[in-house]
Amino acid sequence: MNSFGRIFKVEIFGESHGESVGVIVGGCPPGIELCEDDFMTDLTKRQPGQKGTTKRIEKDIPHIKSGVFNMRSTGSPIMIEFYNENRESGDYEQFKTKPRPGQADFAADKKFKGFNDYRGGGHFSGRLTVGLVAAGVIAKKILKDIEIKTRILEIGGSQNYQDKLNEAISEGDTLGGIIECFVCNVPIGLGEPFFDSIESVISHLVFSIPSVKGIEFGKGFESAGMKGSEYNDTLLDLSGRTKTNNCGGITGGLSNGNQIIFRAALRPPSSILKSQMTINAVTGKEEELSVKGRHDVCAALRARIIIESVTAAGICDLLLINRIYGLK
Ligand SMILES: Cc1cc2nc3c(=O)[nH]c(=O)nc-3n(C[C@H](O)[C@H](O)[C@H](O)COP(=O)(O)O)c2cc1C
Repeated sequence: MNSFGRIFKVEIFGESHGESVGVIVGGCPPGIELCEDDFMTDLTKRQPGQKGTTKRIEKDIPHIKSGVFNMRSTGSPIMIEFYNENRESGDYEQFKTKPRPGQADFAADKKFKGFNDYRGGGHFSGRLTVGLVAAGVIAKKILKDIEIKTRILEIGGSQNYQDKLNEAISEGDTLGGIIECFVCNVPIGLGEPFFDSIESVISHLVFSIPSVKGIEFGKGFESAGMKGSEYNDTLLDLSGRTKTNNCGGITGGLSNGNQIIFRAALRPPSSILKSQMTINAVTGKEEELSVKGRHDVCAALRARIIIESVTAAGICDLLLINRIYGLK
């Protein structure tokens, strides 16, 4: 239930303040060159440090526990573990009785009958995304020429967001953001009709990133207001290249020879210093809550590489599925 993929399977484990977090990647073909150093560039991109990100800095050293021998994948599941070494769990005790509005605290407590590890958001924490980034590193080795890029389009509704960020920080508040992703050099015909359409696979994975609340491909929601004559992407040549790319490089769920383009919307983190009201889970009475501890003011500031990584995992899975058609 906590995994995704038909062939290239990604399974994450751990809790924010537990001993470790990590990922198990199944279905990786044998013989792929892999060592701990390969992960460092992408892992560093996810780390906090810049303004508006959490003060909790973990070393994020990947420990490859299985599936790699003599610096090559063996074909068996690859397990990568990251130790949690910078934990301050005390700040989270109050959320057991005072669930944070907008967080998973309340729903998770009910679902898991109070047995869930709530410290630092437990299994729901953004900390778990370190495993997704590690999976992406492996996937990218299989993607070869396919390139995945992202950019932040806006934070808190603004393209020039530094003032907004400063304002949110000084108010003890948080901000959301929109990230745009481009996938280039995708062979035509990747993706399956209906259930494993490229949109379905990418959406499933992108929605696995905590905070993501929306996704649109190409013109997305704007396309609903367009005429067919405006929307249709005219073919320019037999490479599949089109004059416009309103459908974001995907038609019928399949890649069509153009760049795949999508945008993901991330909501503002729920943990705000600013005072808010909640319900005490024991007394049922309304109480004031101010969230202390170390939190990201805006998760979107760290999410670019996470989006790139899950996209790589999804495209990799579709590439491996495509081998049934004899395509490489
Ligand atoms: C990289 C990253 C960092 C995050 N940091 C925080 C944080 O510091 N505080 C917080 O309340 N939520 C943070 N979140 C968001 C929560 O994990 C998320 O809102 C929560 O699990 C509820 O899930 P939902 O937003 O998908 O409903 C972060 C998410 C990501 C991807």
